[in-house]
Amino acid sequence: MIELKSPEEISRMRRAGRVVAELLDHLKGYVRAGLRTRELDAESRNFIKRAGAKPAFLGYRGYPACICVSVNEEVVHGIPGERVIQDGDLVSIDAGAVVDGFYGDAAISLIVGQASPEAQRLVDTTRDALWEGIRQARVGNRLSDISHAVQLRVEKEKFGIVRDFVGHGIGRAMHEDPPIPNFGAPNMGPRLRAGMVLAIEPMVTLGDYAVEVLKDGWTAVTKDGSLAAHFEHSIAITDSGVEVLTELAPVRA
Ligand code: MF3
Ligand code: CO
Repeated sequence: MIELKSPEEISRMRRAGRVVAELLDHLKGYVRAGLRTRELDAESRNFIKRAGAKPAFLGYRGYPACICVSVNEEVVHGIPGERVIQDGDLVSIDAGAVVDGFYGDAAISLIVGQASPEAQRLVDTTRDALWEGIRQARVGNRLSDISHAVQLRVEKEKFGIVRDFVGHGIGRAMHEDPPIPNFGAPNMGPRLRAGMVLAIEPMVTLGDYAVEVLKDGWTAVTKDGSLAAHFEHSIAITDSGVEVLTELAPVRA
């Protein structure tokens, strides 16, 4: 069952979304070559606390950190640790916060220092694909219109769109119905309605889309070792358009 949020609930969700947006914006400036990924997590833990929020990921199914930091061939769910970020690394950061019982969830990818043209195109395409999906998130469309738009944008570049992880509804829990695949035929699945709040999150690879999970039980990497990028926004569908809750200045598209 897809739970519809009232305008009042959506305005409460803005607060969680804003904390995540501000955290990711802060980390963009904070991340640099020579830092260990656990230092990004420590910074995030403090930031979320100062914002009066709670980290959404910490303790989720035993997850041990506040953010996920996935470097290069790591796709998602990289556990912050001793890995030292190098010049040219493609770093994906996924963060979630809870405010007043509501969740916000978003992710960005960036390249630290000197970027290879291929890595840059991968990052730019993944961000574009997310926004293509967001553009389809409007009343009267169907859920797979989002999925299809994401896939089209990614495959136009001959990149791989990951199948094994999907987006999701979000609200009083981080993961609510519906699951949102990043691929598929258009015009399928539930009709989109005002009050749906969704986390859309394409994961894109430079090579094959197959992924595997490492022995730590979390870190998903590309099977072929190719680079991967990940962007995510939490968005609310309203009668007057889509509202991106995890943008710094709330965007209506
Ligand atoms: N954005 C990710 C998701 O929606 C965050 C989950 S990471 C976890 O699945 F560590 F919290 F599981
Ligand atoms: Co998510």
